[in-house]
Amino acid sequence: MRTQVAIIGAGPAGLLLGQLLGRNGIDNIILERASAEHVLGRIRAGVIEQVAVDLLDEAGVGARMHREGLIHDGTQICVEGVRHRVDFKALTGRTVMVYGQTEITRDLMEGRAAAGLTTIYEAHDAELHDLSGTTPRVLYRCAGTAHEIACDFVAGCDGFHGVSRRSVPAGAIRHYERVYPFGWLGLLADTPPVSEELIYVRHHNGFALCSMRSPTRSRYYIQCSLAEDVEAWPDERFWNELKPRLDEAAREAIVTGPSIEKSIAPLRSFVAEPMRFGRLLLAGDASHIVPPTGAKGLNLAASDVRYLSRALVEYYREGSSDGLDHYSQRALARVWKAERFSWWMTSLLHTFPDSGFEQKMQLAELDYLFGSRAAATAFAENYVGLPF
Ligand code: FAD
Ligand code: PHB
Repeated sequence: MRTQVAIIGAGPAGLLLGQLLGRNGIDNIILERASAEHVLGRIRAGVIEQVAVDLLDEAGVGARMHREGLIHDGTQICVEGVRHRVDFKALTGRTVMVYGQTEITRDLMEGRAAAGLTTIYEAHDAELHDLSGTTPRVLYRCAGTAHEIACDFVAGCDGFHGVSRRSVPAGAIRHYERVYPFGWLGLLADTPPVSEELIYVRHHNGFALCSMRSPTRSRYYIQCSLAEDVEAWPDERFWNELKPRLDEAAREAIVTGPSIEKSIAPLRSFVAEPMRFGRLLLAGDASHIVPPTGAKGLNLAASDVRYLSRALVEYYREGSSDGLDHYSQRALARVWKAERFSWWMTSLLHTFPDSGFEQKMQLAELDYLFGSRAAATAFAENYVGLPF
């Protein structure tokens, strides 16, 4: 087989890139290790920035998002039982959209099928070869048979555990990492959300987050130890752990119910530099991870894809490599700002094994955030997403 761009991974980064390239007449094949059902079963991001909304529109798959997505003008932050509000719209003129990653993925999969573009699911043992030459090759196995794709470029969109980043020789890539000493236990339930806006909670028992997917489906998270096993968390235990972290009004208003999904996610900050090696271009979680506290992961994947799709269109239309040559540098400038914000928000709202000193610093910083328009504006600007 031959294609112009071989895309590894059918998560949001790979699907969005494939759709944008396809609309610009650039042929691409996506190889995905898992099945389509498995990809759709992963409950992850919930908040998307205007940048991602615009890109989904550009990809021609935004219609359902505009019908069903919820626009949020602000967010709430609860500190030791007292709730505060940050008004994004008043401070920045901008808002965010609450629309689940599962729905985005479904819209992109349908768009891809309608465009007649090829996705190979359950493609195992992918290997990337000749990345430094002009015709890279991707080898993989499907249903026991070996296959090969020859291409002009490989887009590594295969997430943190994928093969793409690992295919770069060790001396050609540098990793920066921070692993946090806790995780998030998430629960999805068909119950109305406790509040119209998200509530981020800083409490001495640990962080919590009240989020949602729709007016009838809520998503909650609590900070948990990395040693936890999700099997040890029957629903009742989850609700009993969440409620004391909330303010009184939320505690009284919350509607609990049976979970439809529960999972534990570790928290990590990670960047691999550069994002290009020869004809391999990394995008999304394949090259960087943020802890979910700032709601930035999927948005960063979209921002990478924006740079990368434009660079590839420029290459094929105008024969210019300029966008590709600057891809890593441009994408990383946004990545590091989102890394900083996600690290800061994580440090501000979680309990750490440490000391009283850090806790006092958190409380002083939160006090400053709610008391200073400049501080609240800086928070809001970063949360809604910095402009390009
Ligand atoms: P992925 O979604 O990881 O997709 C990679 C794909 O590649 C997968 O389908 C995988 O199966 C496939 N793959 C892996 N290896 C191979 C291989 N060798 N061959 C072929 N295919 C392979 N982000 C936000 O912006 N807002 C939020 O509110 C938010 N909340 C989050 C909450 C949680 C609990 C978590 C865990 C994450 C959250 N994120 C959020 C982050 C967001 O989910 C990720 O950043 C996003 O999924 C990254 O997309 P991606 O396409 O780069 O990678
Ligand atoms: C979610 O709804 O899953 C969600 C929302 C905001 C975050 C992280 C996750 O910061």
